[in-house]
Amino acid sequence: MINSRSGSSLNSRNMRGDTMETPSRERFSSTTAVFLASLGSALGLGNIWKFPYMTGKFGGGAFLMLYVISVLLVAVPAMVSEFVIGRRARRNAVQSFEVLAPHSCWPCVGILAVAGSCLIMFFYASVAGWVYAYIGKSLIGSFTGVTVEGATQQFNSMVSSPFVPIIWLFVVVFVISVVLIKGVQRGIEKITKTLIPIFFVLILICVARALTLSGAGEGLSFLYKVDFSLITPTVMLSAFGLAFFKMSVGMGTMITYSSYYTGSDRLIPTAIRIAFADILASLLAGMAIFPAVFSFGLEPQGGSGLLFITIPLVFSKIPFGHVLLPVFFVLCAIIATTAMISLVQVPVAWAEERFGLKKWKAVVINTGLIFSVGILSALSATPDGVLSEVKIMGLGFFDLFDFVSSNIALPTCALLTVLFVGWKLSKEIYFSEVTNEGLLHDRIRPMIFLFLIRFVAPVCILLVFLNSLGVI
Ligand code: PHE
Repeated sequence: MINSRSGSSLNSRNMRGDTMETPSRERFSSTTAVFLASLGSALGLGNIWKFPYMTGKFGGGAFLMLYVISVLLVAVPAMVSEFVIGRRARRNAVQSFEVLAPHSCWPCVGILAVAGSCLIMFFYASVAGWVYAYIGKSLIGSFTGVTVEGATQQFNSMVSSPFVPIIWLFVVVFVISVVLIKGVQRGIEKITKTLIPIFFVLILICVARALTLSGAGEGLSFLYKVDFSLITPTVMLSAFGLAFFKMSVGMGTMITYSSYYTGSDRLIPTAIRIAFADILASLLAGMAIFPAVFSFGLEPQGGSGLLFITIPLVFSKIPFGHVLLPVFFVLCAIIATTAMISLVQVPVAWAEERFGLKKWKAVVINTGLIFSVGILSALSATPDGVLSEVKIMGLGFFDLFDFVSSNIALPTCALLTVLFVGWKLSKEIYFSEVTNEGLLHDRIRPMIFLFLIRFVAPVCILLVFLNSLGVI
């Protein structure tokens, strides 16, 4: 569709609809670029180490249904809210609120988002570093004929070393810096357009191998049995929590990315498409992992145990496993990297636009901070880590960053964002954005989403928040 909204694409408008001059900003070049970059943010380690395991553990198909409902009722509306804010204001996560609600406290939500994305990066980058390290290890055949003890010992010795995790953390931060310095089109867009299709091809190869193993059926039935008896209120709240984390809402990433969307991108369909592509990726990940786990009689597990111990073990046993293991870690590295790029772009865009810094300076300062503080979590991720004895509020650095970002910053920011769009922003602005200024003749979907944004999403997010704090 031709962009006939050039006025609104070049400038942002505040709550009253006055046109505000926007500094010249970069744009994604096409709808495909918008989709792949935003999907690149949603895809991440959550697809591999959280979703498949939780699905299997909490009732298979029953949990899947619940998860899809959580995504559609809460995470997608929250994502649409972020899109509305970002594309309307065409600024970074903090200044978008300043433009839309001047002289108010709302920009604090953006500051929380900037802080939250750094907090996630402080631990996520360490895990991504281990993934990078495992590509190398699997390529040189470190896991050939490995036993459970051997795989556990290799993982522990890597993460408890005082140097190795820091070196890999540096590599991760360096890669992200290079992409971000190149900018929105030549960096973020180019890398996601290249890597996301590769990710899907690689995961399909792994699925094909896993499904042709004897005993694959048991793995599939672990994942896709339907057992409603395992669904409890706590499981329901975990499904909601997982949905936010997976869809990358509540961290300002979607506000920042949508500020680079074109005026003709359709916000609601884009969010729905991202959600389904992300769910598909998670299902494929489950199909690539669990048949193999079951065919060797191993216990299904999630988290780092799955990724760094069980996976190398099962791949070392299956025919062509030595080729597929590096492939598997490459696909994990791809999605971890594209997720991190979106996270770091949040503080980078803010530093650039708020303080007028050159892009490379904004990138170096932010990645420098992430690297320096990330060292604390890189050295405290497991009980044998050099800094594992240092505790704050009973938690080591790694767990502390994880807890504060996922359980406090993310739900608070997601809640305030939907409240902002649902109750503070005028309905005209909302409808104007989701219908591309009336060019899209879709009235029903925007109405349904406004209802979800105003009523359903805030209640669900509040419940998840209180649950994660142990209040309910
Ligand atoms: N969605 C990413 C994942 O699944 C994590 C993420 C959270 C990325 C919040 C950006 C913002 O791993």
